[in-house]
Amino acid sequence: MRMVEIIAAKRDGRPLTTAEIEWVVKHYTAGDIPDYQMAALAMAIVLRGMDDRETADLTIAMARSGDMLDLHDIAPLTVDKHSTGGVGDKTTLVVAPLVAAVGLPVAKMSGRGLGFSGGTIDKLESIPGFRTSLSTEEFRRAVHEPGLVVAAQSGDLAPADKKLYALRDVTATVESIPLIAASVMSKKLASGADCIVLDVKYGRGAFMQTLDDARQLARTMVAIGHHAGRKVTAVLSSMQQPLGFAIGNALEVREAIAALRGSGPPDLVELSLVLGSELVRMAGLRDSVDAARLLLREALQSGAAWEKFRAMVVNQGGDPTVIDEPERLPTAPVQVAFPAPRSGFITAIDGQALGMVVNGLGGGRSRKEDTIDHAVGLVLHAKVGDHVTAGEPLLTVHAAHQADVDQIAERIRFAYTIHDKPPPLLPLVEDIIREI
Ligand code: URA
Repeated sequence: MRMVEIIAAKRDGRPLTTAEIEWVVKHYTAGDIPDYQMAALAMAIVLRGMDDRETADLTIAMARSGDMLDLHDIAPLTVDKHSTGGVGDKTTLVVAPLVAAVGLPVAKMSGRGLGFSGGTIDKLESIPGFRTSLSTEEFRRAVHEPGLVVAAQSGDLAPADKKLYALRDVTATVESIPLIAASVMSKKLASGADCIVLDVKYGRGAFMQTLDDARQLARTMVAIGHHAGRKVTAVLSSMQQPLGFAIGNALEVREAIAALRGSGPPDLVELSLVLGSELVRMAGLRDSVDAARLLLREALQSGAAWEKFRAMVVNQGGDPTVIDEPERLPTAPVQVAFPAPRSGFITAIDGQALGMVVNGLGGGRSRKEDTIDHAVGLVLHAKVGDHVTAGEPLLTVHAAHQADVDQIAERIRFAYTIHDKPPPLLPLVEDIIREI
């Protein structure tokens, strides 16, 4: 087979055969297909799409590109959670310890930032010493004790996705239902969990801008999961504005710690309870999501979820004294409040624009090899529906240099819409897809 012919076929809208997809994944993983050809194919897929059969073939080929973990000798049942990516989305840092605290072993492989959205691995690496690169053996041991592991995709698990994910991040080829579905589900199938909850985000701060696209992505992923014999539920959640108040790696870790200690932003806590309840229900620990939610609330209030998070940090080499006193996490030297340009009600906050601002401050990557500044980011002081007075701080910019702040003022102004009348309030969770 020749890669150039496969690229041309997809460019012209022809479905790829199972054999062609397997060939591409095998040879890209092995390094025989260069990044520029893979980027061209990814762009052709973004523009032309893939049907369900092609998407399933791509997912299975990427999952099988490395080891497929079987954790049943360690725990009879393990759970996992994944988000399709959003701005300010630190939910994993809350949900994972929360469900682990009620006895569900969490085996989670996470990603780095992608496009304008942050990634859990970058966030966790703002904790000094925290190791995200674990061997398969270390990953397995952590599933047993402390019963919670969040690690970067090891070289052995879904290596095809690992390479392609980094390539898509810098070639504007993220926004594609088949590519996102295959990326997410290949990792989920390879990392071995029995019950998986997917947080499928839609809106300005998500890769799926409309509810319809998000629903289609959710259905595609639930179908792939069921086909592979896993229990999968997808929660459709709104990214009409950033989640919580903090955007940026260390700032988000601080906010997640606050949530685990009982003082998190309401939207973050609510979404964490919804996602966690689905896992508790799927795992059969409780019959209904209402009963599951009660169980999780207790774990949050008793401090058990916080203790699990701490145990994970210790187990993965992080400095626990820094999370005990989160003000010791990396802190930006320049902190400047940005004033509201007029009085009125905030009717929209463009999460994508703010995510790009944080990237521009150094909190994300524009090339695969870039390093990031964990300390930078934004802390919002008001959200959609809130009333602000002209001159009052809308948000605080955390930057490495004053010059960075001067450059982004205009973009921040355009990210906010302020009107005289309050906007209708949108639901945080639009739908939950359990069956297809
Ligand atoms: N999350 C992933 O793991 N992959 C994507 O492509 C997008 C979000």
